[in-house]
Amino acid sequence: MRWIGTSWKMNKTLAEAREYASGLAAALEKNTRLSTAGAGEGGVQPFVIPPYTALAAVAQELGKNANSEGGVQLGAQNAHWEDAGAWTGEISVPQAMDAGATMIEIGHSERREHFAESDRTVRLKVEAALRHGAMPLLCVGEPAEVRDAGGSAEHILAQARAALEGLADSQRARVLVAYEPIWAIGASGRPAEIHELEEPFAALRAEFGGSTARGAGSGGAGSVAGLLYGGSVNVDNAADLLAMQDVDGLFVGRTAWDLAGFLTLLEIATA
Ligand code: PGA
Repeated sequence: MRWIGTSWKMNKTLAEAREYASGLAAALEKNTRLSTAGAGEGGVQPFVIPPYTALAAVAQELGKNANSEGGVQLGAQNAHWEDAGAWTGEISVPQAMDAGATMIEIGHSERREHFAESDRTVRLKVEAALRHGAMPLLCVGEPAEVRDAGGSAEHILAQARAALEGLADSQRARVLVAYEPIWAIGASGRPAEIHELEEPFAALRAEFGGSTARGAGSGGAGSVAGLLYGGSVNVDNAADLLAMQDVDGLFVGRTAWDLAGFLTLLEIATA
């Protein structure tokens, strides 16, 4: 299975979120090939991760297309590891799920860098998501200095191990891992070359498996649900990225912030 999803990060008002979601619902009604998660190996599962404020509105606009087969999985951009309590400014996994999320993004590099997210809190959040039946979307990635020193694979394996080691196979099977090199993310990043991604992905695949039958050993015991790539994905590089043997999907920022971009990526993935 292939996963094509976007986090809107800190963007969109409620009106903008509703417009995007209703347009997405209409596109799914018109072209049922855009979301084919039930279609086995070649199936595509779209997902959208709005800001918390818009989660419920997006779920409402998507209606029967929210978190259903042939629809769009919804996620939250972060969640606290406790279920409730005196944690001003935080949102719990049950709250995110109550608003419509079935997926929790955890450990994005922007949160690690600016909000002191550590391997320890990432681990606690992965456990919290699993405890409540949500799918953790674990983000890992290395800074440019580490890449330049040849340490990309080692760096992301250490992050993934801290988050996933010791989990039961049945728990790991519900985790998505997104490899997002920090140097490739956002307006100040540069798109990665395919050859720069091969070794890190092969290392992840060897230890954590993945979803597509294309990769050797994937889907076996201890395998995660899928390995995604993120960082400056656009309509020009998406097909080449998806053609990589160890890539099960794409996690997209800017290109998918407008609906036309997201739909084009879904078309590329289902072509
Ligand atoms: P970008 O963001 O596609 O805008 O580079 C990717 C991400 O942070 O997931």
